[in-house]
Amino acid sequence: MHILKEIEATRRAVGAIRAAGETLGLVPTMGKLHEGHLSLVRAARARCDQVAVTIFVNPTQFGPGEDLDAYPRSPDADLSLLRAEGVDLVFMPVVEAMYEADSATRVRVPGISEVLCGAHRPGHFDGVATVVAKLLNILPADAAFFGEKDYQQLLIIKKMVADLNMPIEIVGCPLVREPDGLAMSSRNVRLSTEHRTQAVALSRALFAARDRVGEGITSTAELVREIRQEIESAGPCEIDYIEIVDPQDLSSIERVTDAARICLAVRIGDCRLIDNIAVTCATAL
Ligand code: PAJ
Repeated sequence: MHILKEIEATRRAVGAIRAAGETLGLVPTMGKLHEGHLSLVRAARARCDQVAVTIFVNPTQFGPGEDLDAYPRSPDADLSLLRAEGVDLVFMPVVEAMYEADSATRVRVPGISEVLCGAHRPGHFDGVATVVAKLLNILPADAAFFGEKDYQQLLIIKKMVADLNMPIEIVGCPLVREPDGLAMSSRNVRLSTEHRTQAVALSRALFAARDRVGEGITSTAELVREIRQEIESAGPCEIDYIEIVDPQDLSSIERVTDAARICLAVRIGDCRLIDNIAVTCATAL
């Protein structure tokens, strides 16, 4: 496994892979890897000859007062996990290599970046789109793999790639959960035992809402009320949003008459947790 920190050396390594006529799959991450990340690595491995993973805690996607400094990091454990998965190349640059002091350009995907998490984390998705564009330029892969855990991020990256005619396929992969339902996240390690128990209410509420849609409940206001109640009854928390949206463009919907996505973000202790689920109205099946 090649572990590279320099941009030029990485370009050369990717160039060699492509010159050999092999396909490359890319998995961008911020490290502190778990089974959710590894599912992307396996999806890349299944579709591409060679797999590259990037580990970079991207400062431009963290707002002032957010958890950039507290973001969990475990580079040695990450590298062991990736080695065990048979990853070919890991790119783990330092911040100064990715952002020169006078770096000014930002990539913005208006519209879908401004709702849900975008409405609560101003500038966050500009930072995400910018760093992913940079990574795709440094490692021009055939396909890049993103998790539905960050459903809005996945749609934003797909739109950016389409709008900018970037020659790469963006592959969305299913959300991976802990056995009790909690969506896997690097931030989960920061939950206290009590908050970890409380956090299960998020997925429990989403599963219950999916069942309610299956029973024929279509009013999004009613579904959101029930989700809110389930989450609030589990303990003190701050709900950023609970929304039921069109899965293509994230616009709000009033009734679930077709496929929809329920998305939420909730703060428990000092962790901001996100989760989402696909739901389909019974008559649309
Ligand atoms: P990070 O949170 O490390 O996630 C990296 C990738 O793993 C993302 O595509 C994310 O959706 C996916 N992922 C995380 N948890 C998952 C889970 N439980 N199931 C399935 N996939 C999961 O997302 C980022 O980093 C950054 O914003 C990044 C795209 C790397 C840009 O900095």
